[in-house]
Amino acid sequence: MNRKGIILAGGSGSRLFPSTKSISKQLVPIYDKPMIYYPLSTMMKAGISEVLIISTPDHISLFQNLLGDGSQFGINLYYEVQDYPGGLAQAFIIGESFIDSNPCCLILGDNIFLGAGLEELLISANNDTKNATIFSYRVSNPSRFGVIEFDENDNILGIEEKPKDPRSNYVVTGIYFYDSNVSKLAKELSPSPRGELEITDLNLKYIERGNIRLKKMSSGFTWLDTGTPESMMEASNFIYTLEKRQGRKISCPEEIALQKGLISKEEFENNLKDASGDYAEYLKTLL
Ligand code: DAU
Repeated sequence: MNRKGIILAGGSGSRLFPSTKSISKQLVPIYDKPMIYYPLSTMMKAGISEVLIISTPDHISLFQNLLGDGSQFGINLYYEVQDYPGGLAQAFIIGESFIDSNPCCLILGDNIFLGAGLEELLISANNDTKNATIFSYRVSNPSRFGVIEFDENDNILGIEEKPKDPRSNYVVTGIYFYDSNVSKLAKELSPSPRGELEITDLNLKYIERGNIRLKKMSSGFTWLDTGTPESMMEASNFIYTLEKRQGRKISCPEEIALQKGLISKEEFENNLKDASGDYAEYLKTLL
């Protein structure tokens, strides 16, 4: 069993119009790097090195131009098109042959996760290939998300997608780990009233089957949403402030590749030889 990863980076980007008229939302920079660098870094921290990027027919080539085959990060990247935004769970149907009956992790291309201990949390979810794992986070505005109800032992009692009267402040974040049945179960879903294969319906199937675990991301972690111009600016400011204060950059796939031994020092150095600018200069300091 070799867990695969999918980064879903499609959608219409309508809330960011006109910034997303000619480029993908997930390529818009969050401070000093394209948005997709953050979920890609999260995937690499989880220890996943076979990653499928799914985007729209118009934008998929932009991701290929940016990220190529992934060898510069010591991973393998693949690309597939989603013809229309048919829902998050459609990723497992589009990616069925890539997943090839292995367990799979999905990260939404606009979700940023940060925090000490994140790597350990993700690796433990990755190592559990028998169960699905979803992560909850406490927010002040739960109605915008999938809201989770759970008992005192963190058993999931239910999930409601964008409820008007949320039953808790705990919501499902945009990172999901599933077992090897995920494509089969996604194919059993019917479109919701808004015409999408809902990730919440997929999670409800796992609840029925009794093999889904909830892990709480405590307030020590940061989960940033980048869905609107305001939240993008807040995310950029947050990254800027942290990086400036700490004197190091956050979520650089090149750095993670070096740390994890996915590429050698020589490869790292070689990849940077023609690069300049603040980001490249930072990476060069790591040697
Ligand atoms: O961010 C976590 C939330 O993500 C969860 O709490 C919700 O349960 C889940 O449904 C989802 O809600 P959103 O309203 O944030 O999903 P949205 O439709 O905005 O899609 C999230 C990202 O995925 C967005 O960047 C666009 C992309 N996307 C979306 C759809 C529906 C695709 O690439 N393809 C799609 O078909």
